[in-house]
Amino acid sequence: MQRPSKITAIVGTYCKGGVIDSAVDELLGAAAAAGAQTTKFYLVDEHIEFCTNCRSCTQQAGDEFGRCILDDRMRPILEEIERSDAIILASPMNFGTVTAVMKRFVERLVCCAHWPWGKLAPSARKRNRTKRAVVVASSAAPAILGRLFTSMVGLLKQAARLLGAQRVDVLFIGLAALKERPDVSDKARRKAQRLGRKLAEHRCR
Ligand SMILES: Cc1cc2nc3c(=O)[nH]c(=O)nc-3n(C[C@H](O)[C@H](O)[C@H](O)COP(=O)(O)O)c2cc1C
Repeated sequence: MQRPSKITAIVGTYCKGGVIDSAVDELLGAAAAAGAQTTKFYLVDEHIEFCTNCRSCTQQAGDEFGRCILDDRMRPILEEIERSDAIILASPMNFGTVTAVMKRFVERLVCCAHWPWGKLAPSARKRNRTKRAVVVASSAAPAILGRLFTSMVGLLKQAARLLGAQRVDVLFIGLAALKERPDVSDKARRKAQRLGRKLAEHRCR
């Protein structure tokens, strides 16, 4: 019998029970119903420091995450991701990009790159990317405008790849601020469930 797939979601919303949170729950619920083990981290609840740009984590070569000098929750979260077959990165759009907590998390992913002093640009540590990922984003703007006119999805996809994702699907929910308590449309729910089941089918090894 196959072992259950393991899925970790990193959630950058400030609004529990809001659009992003509900969409992630839809994904994770469908994945769990298909037999996956799921874990969800709310970045607002986690102690994560800002990257100080000391670059000590980028000096050593190799595909292991570089060691950060900061003692906070980033390392355990990265270890959980490392043990996962699939990841979800989710954030509402604030001022044209991800939320501040998601940006702080993404900046700390510099440890996923090898960038010794003297080298012009970083290179990703994970050459052999085997995970599957879903990027979940929401905006007040219609989804097509949010996707086309901001770099938000590109940023989250880049983060997913640094974390070892090969295939990255996108669930973008537009018109997410029309009501005081906006809900996720049936169409978006169906897509979230479909993607959740796909994640549950995926195993890295
Ligand atoms: C501070 C702030 C900035 C926002 N900036 C944008 C924006 O630039 N573009 C946009 O389409 N929506 C923007 N929105 C709307 C949010 O994207 C929308 O309310 C959110 O996606 C809903 O998801 P949530 O329930 O998980 O918070 C902004 C909302 C706030 C509170």
